[in-house]
Amino acid sequence: MAETFADELRTVTWSDHEGAEHTAYLEALMKGQVSRAGYAEMVAQHYYAYVALEEAGRALADDPVAKPFIRPELERVSALERDLEALYGENWREEIAPSRPTLTYVARINQIADWPGGFIAHHYTRYLGDLSGGQVIRKIAERAYGFEDEGGVSFYLFPGIPDLKAFKIEYREQLNALNLDEVQRRRIIGETLLAYQLNTEVLVEIGKRLPEYLVA
Ligand code: HEM
Repeated sequence: MAETFADELRTVTWSDHEGAEHTAYLEALMKGQVSRAGYAEMVAQHYYAYVALEEAGRALADDPVAKPFIRPELERVSALERDLEALYGENWREEIAPSRPTLTYVARINQIADWPGGFIAHHYTRYLGDLSGGQVIRKIAERAYGFEDEGGVSFYLFPGIPDLKAFKIEYREQLNALNLDEVQRRRIIGETLLAYQLNTEVLVEIGKRLPEYLVA
């Protein structure tokens, strides 16, 4: 049987996934070695990317190609605001700032916002990741920082998606239902690789402050 688009997308991008997963920052986070302030910095950088991504989604809400992917239960901005308030206090907006790699990432999301395939590439890279490895990060963060209802890990909680596994299967079916020719497939895969690179650069930048963020 021919490889599906979802399979191809995962296979071609997996080594870049490994690159993102094995950045020094995420490796330290996964070992529970990052301080609360170091975790908060990642949440802050996520915030700018999701504001851009979800704004792009609203602009494409009536686009027939992008529409099936734009689901309110995925939206993360309110959850991020809740987490940022828990992590930085009520003046969190004055406490955070986008890093240079985050500004580049946001600029790319804005640049492709009128290209549904490009939007799907960025959408896939973030949300499918949040529903997968994100769930591992959530457990580590809960344990390391003792978060409960007050926020901190709301970003990783999807109350509107009771069965994450089933949702991911459906998502991959939606990818396979895209009616793409070879050139379009290549372009979306290329944009997904770029999305991984941009995400990795954001993580590398946070990692530069690891000496300050490592717990004893
Ligand atoms: C601690 C870091 C991470 C861990 C442990 C991790 C782990 C995983 C695992 C186990 C899967 C497979 C899940 C499944 O087949 O259902 C997965 C899928 C995925 N992850 Fe990650 N991940 C991490 C970081 C990231 C990052 C930083 C991104 C993106 C920026 C990302 C994006 C994705 C995507 C898009 C998928 C879906 C692949 C597909 O099925 O097509 N992950 N991750």
